[in-house]
Amino acid sequence: MSKILELQGVCKAFGGVVAAENVNFTVERGEIMGLIGPNGAGKSTTLNLISGIYDVDAGKVLIADQDVTNMKAHLRSRMGLGRTFQTPRFLQRSNIRENLELGTDLADQLGYFKSYFNIKGNAGKNFEAELNRLLDVAGFSINLDDDISSLSYGQMKLLEIVRAMLANPSVMLVDEPAAGLNNKEIENANNLLRLASEKRNMGIVLIEHQMDMVLNICHNVSVLNFGRIIAQGTPEEALSNDLVIEAYLGKRLEVEDGNAVEVLNA
Ligand SMILES: Nc1ncnc2c1ncn2[C@@H]1O[C@H](COP(=O)(O)OP(=O)(O)O)[C@@H](O)[C@H]1O
Ligand SMILES: [Mg+2]
Repeated sequence: MSKILELQGVCKAFGGVVAAENVNFTVERGEIMGLIGPNGAGKSTTLNLISGIYDVDAGKVLIADQDVTNMKAHLRSRMGLGRTFQTPRFLQRSNIRENLELGTDLADQLGYFKSYFNIKGNAGKNFEAELNRLLDVAGFSINLDDDISSLSYGQMKLLEIVRAMLANPSVMLVDEPAAGLNNKEIENANNLLRLASEKRNMGIVLIEHQMDMVLNICHNVSVLNFGRIIAQGTPEEALSNDLVIEAYLGKRLEVEDGNAVEVLNA
């Protein structure tokens, strides 16, 4: 394993609101790190600080040991950073092909993506094979000429993950992929993220409220509360931590057959 993402003492305040206070964590290649915590804890802010949408007040962000703290967002994506958004970001009046070409700065730089759909030969074939493999795991097929609005909400959310993965980032930030998905779609999202981690060797930061998903696919978890990390460890360790139970869960969870089960009289 090798370290692909590191936050060192990252701080961010909005007026009087401290959204991130001395946040430290590292993510290895192939690791899925869950970033959890109550609403307003600073999870999305942390993703925005990593991706360069916000500037830090203090601290450092490193990608593959390179300090990117002062680098603009589009340059970070060229460094190998990919992301999805909590609400899918697609151009509503465009077809699926055009939407897949969006947000591909990284792959564009790698020289095989942006004009993929016009590429002949091996590079084009490889790309198409990867797209089909990912859609297979996502559990639905598409016609690239169809309007993006022909997809269901769940399919759009899954396609966001597919789009991010197509750029083959080394770090992928995923904001609440399970929100609004049915159980089957959540399983498909799990499988996509497992593939990204296990087969594509990406380091993943996953924000998710769905504890089953966190317990199922995260290797480690960092818990935020009021901008501070209050617990780090395996999902089982973090979710049984008293501070976490008090701040966030209000109940004790244990894993039973891959599901989060509430323990009564804990
Ligand atoms: N652009 C912003 N301007 C002002 N306050 C913000 C901004 N973004 C986030 N905040 C505040 O920072 C805190 C953390 O927000 P956020 O990172 O969105 O939390 P989470 O994603 O964990 O729900 C909240 O109090 C929120 O209101
Ligand atoms: Mg958020």
